[in-house]
Amino acid sequence: MKGIVIEGGERLVGEVQVSGAKNAALPALAAALLVEGTSIFSNCPRLRDVATFQALLENLGARLEWNGKGELQVDTYGIMGASAPYDLVKTMRASILILGPLLARMGEAVVSLPGGCAIGARPVNLHLKGLEQLGAQIELDHGYIKARAKRLKGTHLYLDIPTVTGTENLMMAAALAEGTTVIENAACEPEVEDLAHVLSAMGVEIEGAGTSEVTIRGVEHVRPVQHAVMPDRIEAATLMVAAGITRGNILIKGCRLEHMEAVVAKLREVGMEISSPAAGEVRVVGANRVRSTDVKTLPYPGFPTDMQAQVMALMTVANGLSAITETIFENRFMHVSELNRMGADIRVQGPTAIVTGVPQLSGAPVMATDLRASASLVVAGLAAQGRTVIARAYHLERGYEDLVGKLAALGATVQEVDLDDEDTGEQE
Ligand code: EPU
Repeated sequence: MKGIVIEGGERLVGEVQVSGAKNAALPALAAALLVEGTSIFSNCPRLRDVATFQALLENLGARLEWNGKGELQVDTYGIMGASAPYDLVKTMRASILILGPLLARMGEAVVSLPGGCAIGARPVNLHLKGLEQLGAQIELDHGYIKARAKRLKGTHLYLDIPTVTGTENLMMAAALAEGTTVIENAACEPEVEDLAHVLSAMGVEIEGAGTSEVTIRGVEHVRPVQHAVMPDRIEAATLMVAAGITRGNILIKGCRLEHMEAVVAKLREVGMEISSPAAGEVRVVGANRVRSTDVKTLPYPGFPTDMQAQVMALMTVANGLSAITETIFENRFMHVSELNRMGADIRVQGPTAIVTGVPQLSGAPVMATDLRASASLVVAGLAAQGRTVIARAYHLERGYEDLVGKLAALGATVQEVDLDDEDTGEQE
């Protein structure tokens, strides 16, 4: 099992390119299921979660291949099956994204019900309720969701919570439905908007993606697309925090500042300098010692839950007391005890972590528990005195393309190593 070893204390300096967004690539690949033909996705990150999605689509009869230009080609002529087995779904919850498009195209879909995961219970009731309102018959049978519909019918949907993958699933289902679907209280995340670009390139009329009301006019058939996956705003923001905690000075290329306003506002508030010298480029300069601040995670455009752990790592060395409140997932504080092993002073009270800044962290052996928790341990390790060894680093590979290589190129002393550790098969 892979681990990451970091000798802390190096300032990050230089330029780094951001990869395509995991959370935009996965729905884009799912949308390819709506088509009979070959769609091509550029800027698709090479990640473990993308490979899992590839296996999921291949299991349905699709053929996926990385072409010579580094694009992922998805040929969905041969889709035969309509089922996603437990063995694949249990390793990645985002597998649920195939439910809507598969049902819309095949008239049926059998997808293993994702279980709970490391960061929370994460039910999919709103995906199912929405599909039922679109006319699907849904049954839960021996751990599987069995959905059927001759042709879905457009309708007016209201989401109790602005679920990201739920909004995406329903947009894809509505793309082939008869008539118009309106999703109210839709998720506004930029990844939802990116999916809307995919669907509209397929020939679906779609309005309002990126706002809380999305309107989809269904069509009978969609055409294959060529689509460039949007840059990963969470990777870019993680690199910003890494620059901040090491008092570094880096230029992040290929990212979009307008997708990261909540994070940028917080980082400026704590004393970091962030500017955009050219379109698609962000310069980040760390402060000598950052100030503390309070953070509350919220749906977009609020502060992203996917950055909570990394910003908490930064606050562990801030001057003062920070209150970090997680409102999206009920169990997304597993990095706290690991950060405390590195000398941080964090107490959890319900949904809030109270962080008392310390002058310096110290390297320690720690354990990654989920993707963003791993990223926070990497960030902390970069600033800690001495050696940090992060076990179960496979979590990081699920969502960051070559983060270790990118940090090393910026001057960090970091490498992957083989550790004797066991796999827990946790999902997120
Ligand atoms: N929820 C329900 N019922 C549902 C769906 C969601 O109660 O049917 C609840 C969840 O339990 C949670 C809240 O609604 O408390 C929001 O969850 P959401 O459905 O928006 O999350 P998701 O779609 O499962 C995506 C990202 C996550 C990211 C969240 C929040 C993908 C593939 N995953 O998950 O990304 O944290 O939105 O922004 O897009 C990550 O990349 O590390 C990651 C976990």
